[in-house]
Order: sequence, then C-alpha cells, then structure tokens
Amino acid sequence: MSNHAKSTKTSSKNMTVKLKVWRQKDAKTEGKFENYSLDGVSASMSFLEMMDLLNEDLTKKGIAPVEFQSDCREGICGTCSCFINGQAHGPERGAATCQVYMRKFAEGETIVIEPWRAAAFPIIRDLVIDRSPFDRIIAAGGYTGAKTGPHADANSILVPKPDADKAMDAAACIGCGACVAACPNSSASLFTSAKITHLAMLPQGHPLRERRVLRMVEQMDKEGFGHCTNIGECQSACPKEIKIDFIAQMRREYLAAVVNQRPESKSGGSG
Ligand code: SF4
Ligand code: FES
Repeated sequence: MSNHAKSTKTSSKNMTVKLKVWRQKDAKTEGKFENYSLDGVSASMSFLEMMDLLNEDLTKKGIAPVEFQSDCREGICGTCSCFINGQAHGPERGAATCQVYMRKFAEGETIVIEPWRAAAFPIIRDLVIDRSPFDRIIAAGGYTGAKTGPHADANSILVPKPDADKAMDAAACIGCGACVAACPNSSASLFTSAKITHLAMLPQGHPLRERRVLRMVEQMDKEGFGHCTNIGECQSACPKEIKIDFIAQMRREYLAAVVNQRPESKSGGSG
C-alpha cells in the first residue's frame, strides 16, 4: 500500500461530516459553537472546498454563511488560518488550512473549527480575525534605504550560500499567525524574528539593520503580544516550519543594536 493510500482515512465514496463551527457576529458580541451536518463531502475536496459546500448549504437554508478568509488557496498568502480540531491549520504538518484535504477525516467525524484565539488578534466575524498588528510590525521596520543605483549585475554582490539559505528560510513566513495562536503566551516572536532575519541576512538589508530590529521589536511589544519563553509550540504549528532558531537570531540582533544604538534610536522592547 502506498503512503498516500495509508494516510487516506476514507474511500472515494462521498461522506457526511459533523461540523462544530465558531459563529460570532463581531468583536463585541459573544460567540458560540453551532453544529451542522454536511453530506456529499468528497475525500478529494480541500478543507476550504468543504467550507464552500457548507456555505452553499447554509445559504439555501437561509442561514448566514460562515465567514472565513482565503486568497491563494495554495499555502502562500496566510489568510485561511483557523484551528481545526484544536490544531492550528489542522492535522497536516507543514501545511496551511487550504492545503488540508478531507481524506484526513473519517466518515461521520465531528470536526471542530474555530478562529485564532489571541487578545492581539480580535475576532472580526466567525473565523475572520484582525491580523493588522502584523502589518504594523512590518511597517515599523520601514523600507530599505540602500541606494541601489542602476541595474547591478546579478553577480556583482555575492551573498554567501549559508546567508542566502537562511534568508530564504526566513522569507518563507506567510504571516498566518499560527505561531501566535499556538503559543501559550501569544508571542509574536517567531513571526517578527523571521521578518527581521530575512532582511538582516542580505546585503540590501544591512544599512538599516539595527534601526529595523529596534523598531520592529518595540512595535511587537506595543501590539500586546506576550513574551517568548522558549516553549516551541510556534515552530510546531508553523505551516512553513520556521525554526525557533530565528528567535535566538532576533535576540542577538536586538542586543547588538541596543549596545550600538544612536541617541535617536533609543527605545524600549525586549523581544
Ligand atoms: S512564523 Fe510560521 S506560523 Fe508564524 S506567521 Fe510566519 S508562517 Fe505563520
Ligand atoms: S488561502 Fe492562502 S495560504 Fe491558505
């Protein structure tokens, strides 16, 4: 039997699943779980296609569809995030919610679906949360001020392979927020460290490296995320398998910047 067949819990026959979905009108209204039964679910459907089917069914019955976000549906935009059966992004390791397939679930199984739970990510409606604190952390880093001049030859600035690999690994972060949702402290350290590292490792990111880490860590603290205590749930939940080593890198960058900071850069934040 192939690995693929082994991981398939259901046959090609359509199945019925029971869904326990968090419904919440807005940030100020109390939410609750609603139970739905959904027929005609194919094992080859993606999880979001199953949600589309649920919403068609609810609409036909005159019930408001479940609000959720999605864009790329191929694991690169980070918008589709939710908890599935208590796991950030569901049962598939190294995959976003949109990359989960219904063959992971059994006929008649109850699937619990709920939004990220973190004070810094208020619920907008149902499964949709406000991830704008992440945008503000990135904005705090500013843009690169390096003058690049006319088109440089691709090989004129050589980047050592280990640095390029590290930058690429960090740049894989899709800003989904699973790291915050999975962390008992709701820390945004994995996200922030990935964003800081991916620029810090490349020549274009060097000139404002210190200012960037100080500002981004300060903004992270302002947004109300908790502090990292090295629990490691973030890297287990991350669909891009970003390692907590980047948090250590962020702390080194931050410490070096604090030691060298110029008077105008003096600011708080501990990472
Ligand atoms: S570090 Fe991973 S879990 Fe956190 S936002 Fe980036 S991709 Fe999502
Ligand atoms: S919809 Fe883009 S990562 Fe899932």
